[in-house]
Amino acid sequence: MSSIGDSENKYLIDIEEGAETARLLEQNLLYNRAQGGLFPQGLDLGPIQSILDIGCGPGGWALEVAYAYKHFGVVGIDINAAMIRYAFAQARTRKLQNVSFEVMDATQTLDFPDNSFDLINTRFVASFMTRETWPELVRECMRLLKPGGIIQMTEMEIGISNSAAIERLNSYIYQSMYKQKRNFSVDGRSIGIVNMLGKLLQQVGCINIGTHAFTMDSSFGAELHYSAIKDMELLYPLIKPYLVRSDVVDEFTFDADYATMGTDVMRNDFVSISFGLTAWGYKATS
Ligand SMILES: C[S@@+](CC[C@H](N)C(=O)[O-])C[C@H]1O[C@@H](n2cnc3c(N)ncnc32)[C@H](O)[C@@H]1O
Repeated sequence: MSSIGDSENKYLIDIEEGAETARLLEQNLLYNRAQGGLFPQGLDLGPIQSILDIGCGPGGWALEVAYAYKHFGVVGIDINAAMIRYAFAQARTRKLQNVSFEVMDATQTLDFPDNSFDLINTRFVASFMTRETWPELVRECMRLLKPGGIIQMTEMEIGISNSAAIERLNSYIYQSMYKQKRNFSVDGRSIGIVNMLGKLLQQVGCINIGTHAFTMDSSFGAELHYSAIKDMELLYPLIKPYLVRSDVVDEFTFDADYATMGTDVMRNDFVSISFGLTAWGYKATS
């Protein structure tokens, strides 16, 4: 891992924006539904007592786990102090005593002893990782896991729609991430991480690796259409400064695509499906 002090915040969105906290809270509910639950079906949660959620945002996933499983001790970490304060306040309001939150940079050595957790969760951390930091983070998770513990990682691949404006908006994201070697895409035409999750786990010696694929149907008339569209409407303006800075699109073109997107998604023939993957693996017991 890098040493403390040489980190630079690589998150695609300005996390001082309160709008990002609000978006992440909604996104948490949306994806918990799309994923079909907090953990992949069939994962044996029997031996689990302690959980770490890395890049926990305002705490959505960690709070829900703590609420649903009162015997788990859950810790969420995030680089953003405002999100951590929000997560703390939520835990207090809901009177959850089995969850805590700390400000920590996941691209640095984490401030926990070896063998601290039974399960470590990461979801949508591709938004601040690079090709270099991915393997380091997975290795760090192995250090923190107890023997027999589980790493569970979930990422999305932005999908396919019949809106040319959305396809262009998404391609700006792929291209900028590719240019900056933030992912494993070989041509800048995908996010390029879901296909690597299993390999990353294998490279650090995880065993019994499993995967669960899920879809997010944002098509007009689909159950999650409204929430998914809201998420997109919030996400693109928040990510725009990063895309313009990355020189993959100018402001005028971006704004035109965004405006067209707004009408495309309300057409009754609008279709869009994106997909994601949860991959998990176990730390060997000996
Ligand atoms: C897309 S959000 C995902 C939030 C949450 N995992 C979820 O699934 O709802 C990414 C989160 O990573 C946090 N983040 C960005 N850079 C980070 C870093 N270096 N270390 C830890 N967290 C970071 C951001 O503040 C943000 O809350």
